[in-house]
Amino acid sequence: MTDTPVLPPMSLLAELTHRCPLQCPYCSNPLALDGREGELATEDWLRVLDQAAELGVLQVHFSGGEPMARRDLPQLVRHAASLGLYSNLITSGVLLTEATLAQLAGAGLDHVQLSFQDVDTVPAETMGGMPGAQAKKLAAARLIVAEGMPLTTNFVIHRGNVGRIGRMLDLAVDLGARRAEIAHTQYYGWGLVNRAALMPSRAQLEEATRAVDEARTRLAGKLAIDYVTPDYYADQPKPCMGGWGRRFVNVSPTGHVLPCHAAETIKSVPIPDIRTDSLGAIWADAPLFRLFRGTDWMPEPCRGCDQREQDWGGCRCQALALLGDAAATDPVCTRSPDHARISKILADLPETPPPLVYRRYGNAPG
Ligand code: SF4
Ligand code: FES
Repeated sequence: MTDTPVLPPMSLLAELTHRCPLQCPYCSNPLALDGREGELATEDWLRVLDQAAELGVLQVHFSGGEPMARRDLPQLVRHAASLGLYSNLITSGVLLTEATLAQLAGAGLDHVQLSFQDVDTVPAETMGGMPGAQAKKLAAARLIVAEGMPLTTNFVIHRGNVGRIGRMLDLAVDLGARRAEIAHTQYYGWGLVNRAALMPSRAQLEEATRAVDEARTRLAGKLAIDYVTPDYYADQPKPCMGGWGRRFVNVSPTGHVLPCHAAETIKSVPIPDIRTDSLGAIWADAPLFRLFRGTDWMPEPCRGCDQREQDWGGCRCQALALLGDAAATDPVCTRSPDHARISKILADLPETPPPLVYRRYGNAPG
């Protein structure tokens, strides 16, 4: 094990529920969605927040699924605020009303990240699988801004909507967002199942990058833009989660404590549980958190690479999903002996996208 001291996580991702009125085929939630009956109780989440603050966490992101499907969300936000935690709500907005927003604002919510499937209604609602969603999202954005709450709009990009990035960013400005995320689909969970239908071509990616660059100039001073590319086209992997067990801790709807949203796919060690252990003990000592922390676990070529403390060897869950070995170098890396796997996936992308597999209970393939 590395001698580097274990610093506390900066952020807690509280995945309150997997329930969601939308069915986006790019969702990174696991294929085996947790049902309502197994969800943590309010008292459990209050304890998680206490333990997070004690551990030194600064921010809590309430996420899901759709976190507004939990009636106790205002209570959890209020508790987070009382502990001095900065709170961010990651929502689709379709359940947000003037009354629920007022409750959340009164409870001390600091920020809202609102997701859009597209700028145009028909493709947006086709992707989300929920008729009427776009109007609800637009109304939600206006309510959030009218409340004086800082708003970030999030657009997930795929081959079907990649040509509309400029207009998505104009919409963000019109709505009064201060920040927008243009985030290409990340290929985990349902997104991985739908990869062949969602992955843009290299030419589309280049066009997307040009559109973001152009908008950054055009909208300078009005809108901050975060841009997340699909890492399959990169030469070097992303530093997933800022490094395993370094900055982020996830708690799943049923109380699994994870270094990232996809870590339940790693079966070689037990999955820690907040119902039986404390967040602090899990963060410091659980085998799952120690498994890939630091650099001692790395194989070559990462072990001898000067980038090993920049990208931390990339993404463990991607290595597992694509190579069957979570301890392998992320195949996205051009130095990986398995990089040809990525080139082949990209070369084999079909001209005509296959039908989408929508994210809903009981719809997972296999
Ligand atoms: Fe990152 Fe490993 Fe590739 Fe080096 S060899 S760039 S550490 S993934
Ligand atoms: Fe698990 Fe990247 S998603 S390490």
